Amino acid sequence: MSKKIKIGILTGGGDCAGLNAAVKWVTKTALDRQSEQERDFQYEVVGIKDGWKGLSFTDKKELEANVITLTEDVVRTWDRFGGTFLGTSRFNPYNTKNNTSKTTLANIKNLGIDVLVAIGGDDTLSVAAKLHKDGVPVVGIPKTIDKDLAGTDYTLGFETAVEVITDIVDKLRTTAGSHSRVFVIETMGRSAGWLALKAGESSGAFITLIPEYDFDMNRVNELIIEGRKGGARYDIVVVSEGAKVRGGTVVARDKKFDAFGHETLGGVGELVAAEITKGTGIETRCVILSHIQRGGTPCAYDRRMGRYFGIAAVNLIDKKEWGQLVCSKEGTISSVPIVNVLGHLSLVDVPNMYDTIRYNGSRNIL
Ligand code: F6P
Repeated sequence: MSKKIKIGILTGGGDCAGLNAAVKWVTKTALDRQSEQERDFQYEVVGIKDGWKGLSFTDKKELEANVITLTEDVVRTWDRFGGTFLGTSRFNPYNTKNNTSKTTLANIKNLGIDVLVAIGGDDTLSVAAKLHKDGVPVVGIPKTIDKDLAGTDYTLGFETAVEVITDIVDKLRTTAGSHSRVFVIETMGRSAGWLALKAGESSGAFITLIPEYDFDMNRVNELIIEGRKGGARYDIVVVSEGAKVRGGTVVARDKKFDAFGHETLGGVGELVAAEITKGTGIETRCVILSHIQRGGTPCAYDRRMGRYFGIAAVNLIDKKEWGQLVCSKEGTISSVPIVNVLGHLSLVDVPNMYDTIRYNGSRNIL
């Protein structure tokens, strides 16, 4: 019997489309019979439920109940579904207020996990990097609908979320037009405006407000009035949850912070809508898309990227390249050290991508 290497895989942070595809392709690539013949060992794959929380139990039975064996049969259809069948959480074993990392490290050992694949954004990967520093072989796969992770041009879930927003804007256009209203659509995107900007461009929004450029409310109103004079019957304004009015602060829904220290944003759309009504006299409605953006069937691109990232993660494991994050750079799949991407957000390049006069995507592309 050849040696067995156990891969543990988990998804952490906010869910999104493409996660199940990545889990499927890690599993399929690791268990592929053809490749097995070329190795002097065999892989086995287990899924850990609910992100890092799944490795936090001190009770053996509870711990084992949070681990499931993944086979080709189990994951066969997974790429067609959104969310994560493994479950997720924002649990942080290195939480400064309650550091449980010793339990996590012991559990990895007790479960016989030889290598961990962590699918996540900055927070999940920061835990992976710390575990790696503490001696655990890890490999990362990037995901977040915000697409704000440095070191990669793509993060799983982004394109599906853009599709969802575009579809909703299409639906809002008819009612906006019928009532001659302004519609403000608030998207996610706590630090980066990629989601708002790309969805705004895809849906043909009149105005898009992003966190990277503080907006002037007078200018927003001026644009709307100019547009109406030019014959516009209604307006679509897309605003990122992290966008803020010049001289103001981000709008938080409550004063709660998660285990990684992030507060829950939300509400800037309502503020913008109220200011438009006040400044223009035009009836304005706000739709906060919130978690609807994370839902839906993964688009073709997220299924493919989940596949490529999943395969690449196993390729890294084959080569024992620990501490690496699979990434997509200029159309090519490669990898970067996880530590190099942490704390460096990928933000919209305002001078080249954003029109600060029209509050929209740049009209200078070449
Ligand atoms: O994953 C990042 C993100 O999509 C942010 O844009 C947003 O602020 C956050 O998730 C909300 O996450 P939740 O409400 O699920 O904790």
